[in-house]
Amino acid sequence: MSVKKVLLNSGHRMPLLGLGCWQSPAGEVEAAVETALDAGYRHIDTAFVYLNEEAVGVGLHQWLNKTGNKRSEVFVVTKLPPHGMSAEGVHKFLQKSLKALKLDYVDLYLVHLPVGLKSKHDLDILAKRDDGQFDIDEGTDLIAIWKEMEKLVDMGLTKSIGVSNYSIKQIRKTCAISKIKPVVNQVGESGVACILQQRQMQEFCKTHNIFLTATLPSPRLLEDPVVRLVAERHGITTAQVLLRFLVQQNIIVIPKSVNPERIKTNGDLWSFSLSELEMEALTTLDKGESGRSFVFVGSGMTEHPEYPL
Ligand SMILES: NC(=O)c1ccc[n+]([C@@H]2O[C@H](COP(=O)([O-])OP(=O)(O)OC[C@H]3O[C@@H](n4cnc5c(N)ncnc54)[C@H](OP(=O)(O)O)[C@@H]3O)[C@@H](O)[C@H]2O)c1
Repeated sequence: MSVKKVLLNSGHRMPLLGLGCWQSPAGEVEAAVETALDAGYRHIDTAFVYLNEEAVGVGLHQWLNKTGNKRSEVFVVTKLPPHGMSAEGVHKFLQKSLKALKLDYVDLYLVHLPVGLKSKHDLDILAKRDDGQFDIDEGTDLIAIWKEMEKLVDMGLTKSIGVSNYSIKQIRKTCAISKIKPVVNQVGESGVACILQQRQMQEFCKTHNIFLTATLPSPRLLEDPVVRLVAERHGITTAQVLLRFLVQQNIIVIPKSVNPERIKTNGDLWSFSLSELEMEALTTLDKGESGRSFVFVGSGMTEHPEYPL
């Protein structure tokens, strides 16, 4: 399997398919990374807050040693945590991630959320106050942070930089002051998946030559009758239909799995294609804002001045 790549505005190429690693625990994610790379994936997505970068690195290095492939064969993405959202935090947390991954550079470093949190220590990733609400840092300065992100590229610590969970307004603000533009906006909680296709965000990113990275579409879509029908016609799984629907629009996908069979089938997206009619039928699954599957309401997060989700 040869995964299609897109050309980023930084001049680097990024595989349209990656392995998501959120909630893939150490002890399982090593094998998941190896299985994915064996199956042809060439892109791994992790983050400081997933607390599994060291194990992801083990899986990656085991595969590189086993196959003799070069480091440059695999596109590695990690992210600046919300409690690292300060001018000093940017460099410090990328160095921590590189050390854990045992890498000299990552291919893409993302600002995980446009929201800063005040933590008690570096591993205090949820940064809650005594009342259980997120301890938000209202002073988060997205412009100052982006300036520091640009320095990481100049230092050779990351090839490209990007954002995650940003609104159009926040991307616009970032682009307006940037020397180096974000290459992607990774949408997690606000999912650009089929059920919340965010057409406006898609159009905006296309115009500005920024790619979208999306997660596996919501589990309830896996059972949708239209998706099932398309899957039956092609003899594939409903997950493959939904993932193909996204990559066929040049939206980068990073399905997470630690199950070897699901890793393999999720990655088999290039042996078939969806017809125009099928793409149109799948577009009707868009539920707009009502399709949102995750919101931080009631956690204190929404009080942050940059809360966009
Ligand atoms: N930037 C952000 O804020 C953000 C937010 C969310 C996610 N992400 C990234 O996006 C990645 C993917 O998102 P996600 O982890 O939320 O979940 P996901 O890819 O939607 O997967 C969710 C669950 O679906 C299962 N699954 C995988 N393939 C399947 C299939 N073919 N059929 C049925 N179930 C399947 C997996 O379980 P098994 O492991 O048992 O297969 C997994 O636990 C994350 O791992 C992370 O890298 C980023």
